[in-house]
Amino acid sequence: MLSGPNLQFLGTREPGIYGTTTLEAIHARLEARAATLGLSVTCRQSNHEGELVGWVGGAPAEGFAGIVFNPAAYTHTSIALFDAVKAAGLPTVEVHLSNPDARESFRRRSRVAPACVGRIAGFGALSYELGLEGLAVVLAAARPA
Ligand code: DQA
Repeated sequence: MLSGPNLQFLGTREPGIYGTTTLEAIHARLEARAATLGLSVTCRQSNHEGELVGWVGGAPAEGFAGIVFNPAAYTHTSIALFDAVKAAGLPTVEVHLSNPDARESFRRRSRVAPACVGRIAGFGALSYELGLEGLAVVLAAARPA
Protein backbone atom coordinates (compact mmCIF):
# COMPACT_ATOMS: atom_id res chain seq x y z
CA MET A 1 0.00 0.00 0.00
CA LEU A 2 1.61 3.20 -1.17
CA SER A 3 0.31 6.65 -0.35
CA GLY A 4 1.58 9.89 -1.84
CA PRO A 5 2.02 13.47 -0.67
CA ASN A 6 0.06 15.08 2.15
CA LEU A 7 -1.71 11.88 3.10
CA GLN A 8 0.30 11.86 6.34
CA PHE A 9 -2.05 14.67 7.36
CA LEU A 10 -5.19 12.51 7.14
CA GLY A 11 -7.27 13.01 10.25
CA THR A 12 -6.89 16.79 10.20
CA ARG A 13 -6.46 17.52 6.47
CA GLU A 14 -9.68 18.94 4.97
CA PRO A 15 -11.86 16.56 7.01
CA GLY A 16 -14.96 17.52 5.01
CA ILE A 17 -13.29 15.92 1.98
CA TYR A 18 -11.00 13.27 3.43
CA GLY A 19 -12.71 12.36 6.72
CA THR A 20 -11.18 12.20 10.18
CA THR A 21 -9.48 8.80 10.08
CA THR A 22 -5.69 8.98 10.30
CA LEU A 23 -3.43 7.20 7.82
CA GLU A 24 -2.12 5.11 10.70
CA ALA A 25 -5.66 3.92 11.47
CA ILE A 26 -6.33 3.23 7.78
CA HIS A 27 -3.15 1.15 7.64
CA ALA A 28 -4.19 -0.81 10.75
CA ARG A 29 -7.59 -1.56 9.18
CA LEU A 30 -5.92 -2.59 5.95
CA GLU A 31 -3.60 -4.99 7.72
CA ALA A 32 -6.58 -6.59 9.47
CA ARG A 33 -8.49 -6.85 6.17
CA ALA A 34 -5.43 -8.35 4.46
CA ALA A 35 -5.22 -11.04 7.14
CA THR A 36 -8.84 -12.07 6.51
CA LEU A 37 -8.01 -12.30 2.79
CA GLY A 38 -4.96 -14.46 3.49
CA LEU A 39 -2.63 -11.67 2.35
CA SER A 40 -0.04 -9.54 4.06
CA VAL A 41 0.37 -5.87 3.32
CA THR A 42 3.19 -3.39 3.80
CA CYS A 43 2.08 0.24 4.08
CA ARG A 44 4.26 3.21 3.14
CA GLN A 45 3.75 6.93 2.56
CA SER A 46 6.01 9.47 0.92
CA ASN A 47 5.85 13.11 -0.11
CA HIS A 48 8.57 12.48 -2.71
CA GLU A 49 7.82 11.39 -6.26
CA GLY A 50 11.23 9.75 -6.65
CA GLU A 51 10.79 7.68 -3.51
CA LEU A 52 7.40 6.46 -4.77
CA VAL A 53 8.98 5.66 -8.16
CA GLY A 54 11.63 3.64 -6.34
CA TRP A 55 9.10 1.72 -4.25
CA VAL A 56 6.85 0.93 -7.24
CA GLY A 57 9.72 -0.09 -9.49
CA GLY A 58 11.39 -2.08 -6.73
CA ALA A 59 8.19 -3.91 -5.69
CA PRO A 60 8.82 -7.09 -7.76
CA ALA A 61 12.36 -7.44 -6.38
CA GLU A 62 10.97 -6.94 -2.86
CA GLY A 63 8.63 -9.88 -3.49
CA PHE A 64 5.33 -8.02 -3.64
CA ALA A 65 2.53 -9.53 -5.73
CA GLY A 66 0.59 -6.33 -6.34
CA ILE A 67 0.20 -2.70 -5.36
CA VAL A 68 -2.66 -0.64 -3.95
CA PHE A 69 -1.70 2.93 -4.77
CA ASN A 70 -3.00 6.35 -3.76
CA PRO A 71 -0.59 8.64 -5.63
CA ALA A 72 -2.45 11.70 -4.24
CA ALA A 73 -1.62 14.85 -6.22
CA TYR A 74 0.94 12.94 -8.31
CA THR A 75 -2.05 11.06 -9.76
CA HIS A 76 -2.71 14.05 -11.94
CA THR A 77 0.85 14.92 -12.97
CA SER A 78 3.23 12.01 -12.82
CA ILE A 79 4.27 10.26 -16.00
CA ALA A 80 7.18 8.91 -13.95
CA LEU A 81 4.72 7.01 -11.75
CA PHE A 82 2.77 5.79 -14.79
CA ASP A 83 6.06 4.51 -16.21
CA ALA A 84 7.03 2.94 -12.86
CA VAL A 85 3.74 1.00 -12.64
CA LYS A 86 4.26 -0.21 -16.23
CA ALA A 87 7.88 -1.14 -15.49
CA ALA A 88 6.97 -3.05 -12.32
CA GLY A 89 4.40 -5.08 -14.23
CA LEU A 90 2.47 -5.90 -11.04
CA PRO A 91 -1.33 -5.59 -10.83
CA THR A 92 -1.90 -2.15 -9.36
CA VAL A 93 -5.17 -0.71 -8.07
CA GLU A 94 -5.46 3.09 -7.88
CA VAL A 95 -7.40 4.30 -4.84
CA HIS A 96 -8.62 7.68 -3.63
CA LEU A 97 -10.50 8.68 -0.52
CA SER A 98 -12.39 11.39 -2.38
CA ASN A 99 -13.92 11.12 -5.83
CA PRO A 100 -11.53 13.23 -7.94
CA ASP A 101 -13.99 13.22 -10.85
CA ALA A 102 -16.49 15.16 -8.74
CA ARG A 103 -13.95 17.85 -7.76
CA GLU A 104 -11.84 20.47 -9.58
CA SER A 105 -11.29 19.87 -13.27
CA PHE A 106 -7.52 19.38 -12.80
CA ARG A 107 -8.29 16.26 -10.73
CA ARG A 108 -10.30 14.65 -13.52
CA ARG A 109 -7.27 13.33 -15.37
CA SER A 110 -5.26 10.51 -13.85
CA ARG A 111 -1.83 9.92 -15.37
CA VAL A 112 -1.49 6.69 -13.37
CA ALA A 113 -4.90 5.04 -13.96
CA PRO A 114 -4.11 3.82 -17.52
CA ALA A 115 -1.34 1.65 -16.06
CA CYS A 116 -3.65 0.16 -13.41
CA VAL A 117 -6.04 -2.80 -13.43
CA GLY A 118 -8.75 -0.70 -11.80
CA ARG A 119 -9.65 2.22 -9.62
CA ILE A 120 -11.66 2.78 -6.42
CA ALA A 121 -12.55 6.34 -5.45
CA GLY A 122 -14.98 8.20 -3.25
CA PHE A 123 -15.48 5.85 -0.33
CA GLY A 124 -13.25 7.61 2.18
CA ALA A 125 -11.00 5.37 4.26
CA LEU A 126 -12.96 2.38 2.97
CA SER A 127 -11.51 2.97 -0.53
CA TYR A 128 -8.21 1.49 0.68
CA GLU A 129 -9.90 -1.74 1.84
CA LEU A 130 -12.03 -1.97 -1.31
CA GLY A 131 -8.87 -1.51 -3.38
CA LEU A 132 -7.20 -4.36 -1.53
CA GLU A 133 -10.26 -6.56 -2.06
CA GLY A 134 -10.13 -5.79 -5.78
CA LEU A 135 -6.44 -6.63 -5.87
CA ALA A 136 -7.13 -9.91 -4.02
CA VAL A 137 -9.64 -10.88 -6.74
CA VAL A 138 -7.10 -10.12 -9.48
CA LEU A 139 -4.36 -12.09 -7.69
CA ALA A 140 -6.67 -15.06 -7.10
CA ALA A 141 -7.67 -15.10 -10.78
CA ALA A 142 -4.00 -15.12 -11.82
CA ARG A 143 -3.07 -17.99 -9.45
CA PRO A 144 -2.71 -21.41 -11.09
CA ALA A 145 -5.57 -23.76 -10.11
C1 DQA B 1 -6.57 12.05 -3.34
C2 DQA B 1 -7.19 12.91 -4.44
C3 DQA B 1 -6.14 13.79 -5.10
O1 DQA B 1 -6.74 14.60 -6.10
C4 DQA B 1 -5.50 14.71 -4.06
O2 DQA B 1 -4.45 15.44 -4.65
C5 DQA B 1 -5.03 13.99 -2.85
C6 DQA B 1 -5.84 12.90 -2.31
C7 DQA B 1 -7.64 11.23 -2.58
O3 DQA B 1 -7.27 10.24 -1.96
O4 DQA B 1 -8.82 11.58 -2.60
O5 DQA B 1 -4.02 14.34 -2.24
O6 DQA B 1 -5.67 11.14 -3.94
